[in-house]
Amino acid sequence: MIDPPNIDARSFVAAQDFILSVKTHWTTKLYTQLDQNAPIEKIKQTVDYQFFAWLERHLQRYKYSGRYGIHNFQNQFREEIIENFSDNDLLILNKELNLPNYYTAVDIHQHPGGLWSDDIAGTVYERGARSTTPLGAANHQDLHHRLTTIATSQYKPEKILDMACGFGKSTQPFYNAFPDANVIGIDLSAPCLKLAAYVAKQNQIKNVNYHQANAEKTPFKNEEFNLITSTMLLHELPPESIKAVFAEAHRILAPGGKMTHLDFYLVPTEFGRFIHSGHSKRNNEPFMEPFIKMDIKQILENQGFKNISIEPFEESEGTLASDYKPWRFPWTVILAEKTI
Ligand SMILES: C[S@@+](CC[C@H](N)C(=O)[O-])C[C@H]1O[C@@H](n2cnc3c(N)ncnc32)[C@H](O)[C@@H]1O
Repeated sequence: MIDPPNIDARSFVAAQDFILSVKTHWTTKLYTQLDQNAPIEKIKQTVDYQFFAWLERHLQRYKYSGRYGIHNFQNQFREEIIENFSDNDLLILNKELNLPNYYTAVDIHQHPGGLWSDDIAGTVYERGARSTTPLGAANHQDLHHRLTTIATSQYKPEKILDMACGFGKSTQPFYNAFPDANVIGIDLSAPCLKLAAYVAKQNQIKNVNYHQANAEKTPFKNEEFNLITSTMLLHELPPESIKAVFAEAHRILAPGGKMTHLDFYLVPTEFGRFIHSGHSKRNNEPFMEPFIKMDIKQILENQGFKNISIEPFEESEGTLASDYKPWRFPWTVILAEKTI
């Protein structure tokens, strides 16, 4: 086997910055050049669309893999990463946990080995997530804070569960906003959880714990939580698993408790669905399409949830305005309550 090339930080950052600037061009110039009113079969034949689709697939591949990819760069620091993220009393891992097939079968986001199979997957994903939405890269933080505000408006939860917390970015605004609350983040990915717990420990956070668990079947008692939240979990699950997650949330929510999921769900136009379906294929996220076809309101009603609301979500200032043209994810916030 050939040793991976030693990549210095300057070259790596330059390559990643280059990818981000091409992605910005893709998001703004290339996307807005597509004729949204033309028949889909016609759009598919245009050079603009072919180039748009090719770049979407290959920018993502180049970001993670190859000589200047995140995986190759961080692989040089493997031992340090493993050592830094070893002992942590905020973290409970479960070596016996059975990872579902939908999770292990695909290299999600084109991340080599997915989020679970490699010790460095947490830091690789953290670096990759910084450029997922190029226009939001500068204020990506904003998105998670906006959700926290919506989820807790006129509400002070005492016990909060962040389902599929990843490396902890979606959990942070909750533990910071509610220092007296007990906050728990769960995820399937041990490497991501280790990074989340490391960050919390470094910042001397006392009110958070991270557990390795499946959101479909958690180790928690009935009615333990006042607020359950997830960000970008549902679109990664097959429909039966989405239903299982809602049922599990209903079981562990206390009466009067609230549930908030931020995800990619409301896609109003045919053009929007075409682009979203293409993204799903090009980014290795096979369940995006079945998710948007599900009748989530009906499913939640059947499971006993009340006061359900499903609305577009403004991930940063102005993105829901009618004159906003660049590509964006169809951000949607799903709110529901378990009434007394
Ligand atoms: C797109 S990431 C979002 C992470 C985080 N919520 C954020 O906003 O940065 C989706 C996360 O869902 C996790 N995940 C997928 N299926 C899961 C399941 N059944 N139970 C728990 N976590 C799951 C993945 O490991 C990954 O960390």
